Amino acid sequence: MPAKIISAFNGKGGAGKTTLVTNINAHMKTKELKILVIDTDPQRNLYGINAPDFVHYEPSLFNIMKKEISIKKVIQQTDGYHLIPTSDNQNDLNTSINDLTALKNSLEEIQDEYDIILIDNSPAFTPLTYSSLLSSQYILSPCQVTNECLDAVLDLMALVNSDDFKNINPNFKGVGVFFSQYNLASKRQSIINRSIVDNFRRMSRIFGFKIFSTSIPKNVDVNAASAHHKDIFQYKEKSPAATAYKQLTDEIITFINMGGE
Ligand SMILES: Nc1ncnc2c1ncn2[C@@H]1O[C@H](COP(=O)(O)OP(=O)(O)OP(=O)(O)O)[C@@H](O)[C@H]1O
Ligand SMILES: [Mg+2]
Repeated sequence: MPAKIISAFNGKGGAGKTTLVTNINAHMKTKELKILVIDTDPQRNLYGINAPDFVHYEPSLFNIMKKEISIKKVIQQTDGYHLIPTSDNQNDLNTSINDLTALKNSLEEIQDEYDIILIDNSPAFTPLTYSSLLSSQYILSPCQVTNECLDAVLDLMALVNSDDFKNINPNFKGVGVFFSQYNLASKRQSIINRSIVDNFRRMSRIFGFKIFSTSIPKNVDVNAASAHHKDIFQYKEKSPAATAYKQLTDEIITFINMGGE
């Protein structure tokens, strides 16, 4: 069966996209899934966490988007998964992309070789991000419990429900949202959270996105893990965030196995 292609995206910066890709990749690896991770974000945060020692940046996604090289030549093998690196000249790239389907077409060449393709995106809505979303069957959208984050999800829903998007990406299945930094600190906070979560639920019914039942607690171990270039399981297997990320990964696997239901 061809790989399921999953993008992490939220137009709000710092929502938890890179942390998501890092930790679900880490847990999916333990399930013997063949995984390709693609970084499209010029910030390169993913490597800061995942592979500081051995990633090299040439050739990169840049060469795929410019159609200069076969995708197979860009894939690097790392610890238990494969990787396509971003490049640092993406400002140039974004202004010169003339085929938004270059990534989608390249991924079709290798889709049979993987179970899962995970794409980390920048929060900026650039042609590169658009190319990446057009290649994906699923979009996972981490959210802080704020109305600003909900607005960013609604912008995303407007995009995926547009005719242009559906025409180019007829295999798109759905958007799944989860709370990536859930703060249980105070009673007052929990009252605020509850009313914002109610807004998310109402909008999810209107616009048709899923809200996963697992939330990731706001937890200093998540921050500390990335500062140590580790995923949460390597850093502190018994952390509440590690337990939550395992549970979320299992929910995500069910979501994609059910075709986005
Ligand atoms: N559950 C959590 N608890 C505490 N800190 C967290 C949690 N999730 C993420 N963070 C921290 O929040 C910051 C932003 O997370 P991350 O880099 O994953 O966001 P992003 O959406 O990829 O950001 P960008 O939009 O810049 O790409 C990081 O420092 C990360 O360690
Ligand atoms: Mg990021």
